[in-house]
Amino acid sequence: MEQVQRRAKVSALAQRNLTEKMGRNSGGGRCNSGEWLKEQVEEMRVSCEKAQKANRAKTEFISTLTHELRMPIHVIVGCGDLLLDGAWGMLQENQKAIVVKMRQNASYLFDLISDLMELNRLDGGRGVTRCEEIDINGLLEEMKMVARLMPKTEGVVLEVMTPAGLPLLISDRDRLKIILRNLVGNAIKFTKEGRITISAHFDPEDQMMELTVRDTGIGIDEKERQHIFEMFWQGDDSHARPFGGVGLGLYIVKRLGDQIGAEIEVESEKGKGSLFQLRIPLQPY
Ligand SMILES: Nc1ncnc2c1ncn2[C@@H]1O[C@H](COP(=O)(O)OP(=O)(O)O)[C@@H](O)[C@H]1O
Ligand SMILES: [Mg+2]
Repeated sequence: MEQVQRRAKVSALAQRNLTEKMGRNSGGGRCNSGEWLKEQVEEMRVSCEKAQKANRAKTEFISTLTHELRMPIHVIVGCGDLLLDGAWGMLQENQKAIVVKMRQNASYLFDLISDLMELNRLDGGRGVTRCEEIDINGLLEEMKMVARLMPKTEGVVLEVMTPAGLPLLISDRDRLKIILRNLVGNAIKFTKEGRITISAHFDPEDQMMELTVRDTGIGIDEKERQHIFEMFWQGDDSHARPFGGVGLGLYIVKRLGDQIGAEIEVESEKGKGSLFQLRIPLQPY
C-alpha cells in the first residue's frame, strides 16, 4: 500500500515537472500545452518558409551564374567557327589544329554548364513539357552536327541511320535534344575505336518511336549498370579519361526521359560496347 502511494507521488511530481517545462518552453510560465504546441508549429512554419526562400535564392543564383558562364563560351565557340571558316584568311594546318582543340574544349565546357543548368531547372521544378511536331531525321542530323564538336578519338566513325517515311513525333524537342546530346556525348567519350551509330525506328504496333545510340566502346558491366542513372555516379574507367565529366548526364537523361514518357533500355558488354535505346510514345499519353 505504501509502495503504491509512493509511486503515485512520484508520478504526480513528474507530471508537474513536465507541465512546468512546457510552460517554460512556451516562454512564460503558462501551463497551456495547446498554446505551446501552436507556438512550436508556428516556429516550424517560419523556419520552413525561410529554408524555401533560401532555396529559391540558390536556384535563381545558379540560373544567373550558368547563363553568365555560358555566354562568353558561346562567343569563343563562335569565334573558333569563324576562324575555321577562314573569315580572317585560311589557317595553316597547325593553326587549324589549335583552333579545333580550343573549340572542342569550349564546347565541352558549354555542355557541362548546360547540364548544371538543367539540373538546377529540374530541382526548381522545370516548366511544363512542350508538345511539338518533331521531324526525327532533322533532329538526328542536328545531333550529328553537335557531335562533330565533341572531342572524338581519331578514326572513330560517327553515322546517323534513319529509314525513310518516319512519322512525326509529338514531344518536347528541347528535352529530347538534351537527352540525345548526353547519350551521344557518352558514346563518343567512351569509344576509342570502331563506330558510333545514332538510329531511329518506328514501331507501328505499339506506336512508339525508338531512338538508339550504339557504340563499340569500353562497355558497362552488369554491376555498374545498376548505378549509371544515379546522380554523380561514374564508372572506375571514366576517371582515367581526358574528359571525365561529373556523372550528371545519365541522371538528367533519366529525369527528362520520365517527363516525356520515354522508356530507356541499356544493353552493354564490357569491352564490346553499349546500346542506349529510348522508346517514346508517338503522341504523349
Ligand atoms: N556509352 C557508354 N559506354 C561506357 N560507359 C558509359 C557509357 N555511358 C555511360 N557510361 C558509364 O556511366 C557513367 C555515368 O554516365 P554520365 O552520367 O553521363 O556521367 P559522365 O559522362 O560525366 O561520367 C559514366 O561515368 C560511365 O562509367
Ligand atoms: Mg556523360
